[in-house]
Amino acid sequence: MGVGSLDVAIVGATGAVGREALSILESSELPVSRVKLFASQFSRGTELSFRGEVVRVEVVAPGCFRGVDVAIGTTSAEVARSWVPQAVGEGAVVVDNSSAFRMEEDVPLVVPEINRDAVAAFRRRGIIANPNCSTIQLVVALHPIHVAAGVSRIVVSTYQSTSGSGQQGMDTLSREVLELYRTGSGAGTPAPLPEEEESPYPHQIAFNALPHIGDFLPDGFTTEEWKMVDESRKILCAPDLRVCVTCVRVPWFACHGLSVAIETERPISVDEARRVLANAPGVVLEDEPENQVYPMPFMHAGSDPVYVGRLRADPTVPNGLVVWIVADNLRKGAALNAVQIVEALAPYLSTPTSA
Ligand SMILES: NC(=O)c1ccc[n+]([C@@H]2O[C@H](COP(=O)([O-])OP(=O)(O)OC[C@H]3O[C@@H](n4cnc5c(N)ncnc54)[C@H](OP(=O)(O)O)[C@@H]3O)[C@@H](O)[C@H]2O)c1
Repeated sequence: MGVGSLDVAIVGATGAVGREALSILESSELPVSRVKLFASQFSRGTELSFRGEVVRVEVVAPGCFRGVDVAIGTTSAEVARSWVPQAVGEGAVVVDNSSAFRMEEDVPLVVPEINRDAVAAFRRRGIIANPNCSTIQLVVALHPIHVAAGVSRIVVSTYQSTSGSGQQGMDTLSREVLELYRTGSGAGTPAPLPEEEESPYPHQIAFNALPHIGDFLPDGFTTEEWKMVDESRKILCAPDLRVCVTCVRVPWFACHGLSVAIETERPISVDEARRVLANAPGVVLEDEPENQVYPMPFMHAGSDPVYVGRLRADPTVPNGLVVWIVADNLRKGAALNAVQIVEALAPYLSTPTSA
């Protein structure tokens, strides 16, 4: 019996997460025998490369997932709802980055550093969901503290880069910055948006910060903020965890930052929290404020770990810690986590090839 091999599809392969997933898959040790790439009709025929071979982008059509072992989904939730059932029906297991299935009871929501074994539940629906980008970096850093001292409440403020809105978000930031420099209008003057160009934002993002990600709900929070609440509780198996989130879009390209105030059931000193985080999988502790060392988005674009720094005790509550967390939203926040899920899934899926 030879080494098992996998046929992998990426649906949404031309997008910000899809391109990153293809690149991470390429450098992974997964025994990929074939990749199929899908996107919208506008990208049909686009040539991308995988391990030295040119792969042409296709559009989803009946039968296109036959023979595919695992399909990595990097489309919007609305688009995912249209192709995921078809892919499962044609025999593929789907690892989906969108929010379409994350909170469904029979769909595991997986961050391998925390609940790797949950991938086995793919058998229930044929779908594994990848969490929201900010949720992933939050729980990777929070889980070790939760295990050590029991996290009871968190207050989170996010600083989310424009790549979190996909390619269109980054294109909008570039266009606005160039336009403001070209016209010399600078900060304080709204950037004129050419009518034919679409921005994913309701206001200028260049030199600005928008306390608005997702749609506003009747309670004043946004859909993005509620995703972080619900998904953190599901991944940490902590339905009573109290979570209060404010999500903010900021004008840089890559990496999200999170300021997190944590309350724990049992006391944990800053030194103990540092020790726990320094030994946690997927976490890099960067915490030497006396040497100006702390995680910065500028430094960590393109990196895999979740970086944690600025650890300090919160003097306003009995058991309180405050931390600052940075990770690349396109990598650990999306594509890398999805490929790690495929790695955890591979032993269940690999078809033996003849020696
Ligand atoms: N960006 C992040 O940091 C991040 C993090 C975690 C999760 N996510 C989630 O991941 C998903 C992708 O995000 P993104 O940022 O990569 O978005 P994106 O850059 O806008 O990419 C979207 C992709 O979907 C494709 N697509 C559109 N309609 C399609 C259709 N009918 N059939 C097949 N493919 C279609 C697009 O193809 P064309 O190029 O042909 O239009 C493109 O490849 C979203 O659900 C997002 O919420 C994103």
